[in-house]
Amino acid sequence: MVNLVLLGPPGAGKGTQAERLVRDYDLLHISTGDLLRDAIKAQSPLGRKAKMAVDEGKLVPDEVVVGLVEERLTDKEPGQGFILDGFPRTIAQAGALERLLESMQVPLDHVILFDIPIRLLEERIAKRAEQTRSAGAQPRTDDSPEVLKKRIEEFARATAALSPFYEQNGLLRRVDASEDIERVATQIRDFLQP
Ligand code: AP5
Repeated sequence: MVNLVLLGPPGAGKGTQAERLVRDYDLLHISTGDLLRDAIKAQSPLGRKAKMAVDEGKLVPDEVVVGLVEERLTDKEPGQGFILDGFPRTIAQAGALERLLESMQVPLDHVILFDIPIRLLEERIAKRAEQTRSAGAQPRTDDSPEVLKKRIEEFARATAALSPFYEQNGLLRRVDASEDIERVATQIRDFLQP
């Protein structure tokens, strides 16, 4: 069993690597971005609360995402590992996660930080939006260049504080996320070797 947090800016490849890890290690995948988009699509009360922040590239309030993660984590099969993709994003969320895992008597094993230059993020998100359009679907509302800029700023402002936090408790592992998908996957797998 392995329990992971994937930390990194928008477009760094967290979702892409999470998909592979879920397949290879049979993990529960909890993506706060996906959960929020589902809630927005369903127009649930939580979705209505989150919509404006997501559309503007801002962070959704801590208590909303903490509640979502708590619900999913406490529902997991005993003995099943998990990947938290896009959570925590603030020190308050990291504290809430620590308390939750402590109450469940579950350890956090690795926090994988995706290191990547901004230029590549812009290229990857533009390509994703283009591919979505060419498949006849609507790109994510927050994938426009203006909102992406805001999301990158939010990452630098709120989430960057998390690397020293996890470095201090010895959980932080850095990967060079500018490499191709296979190579990034290999770097992560190297950390997961017993
Ligand atoms: P969220 O959905 O988490 O978005 P994000 O973190 O901005 O990340 P993305 O999903 O855009 O990118 P990714 O790193 O997963 O990259 P991907 O694998 O898709 O959050 C959205 C919003 O929800 C936030 O802005 C916020 O409003 C809210 N939110 C979510 N969590 C929150 C929280 N905890 N607290 C508060 N608010 C929260 O890859 C991108 C593209 O690149 C793909 O096309 C992929 O094929 C390609 N690609 C991936 N890896 C590579 C590679 N190595 N080489 C080349 N191409 C690659």
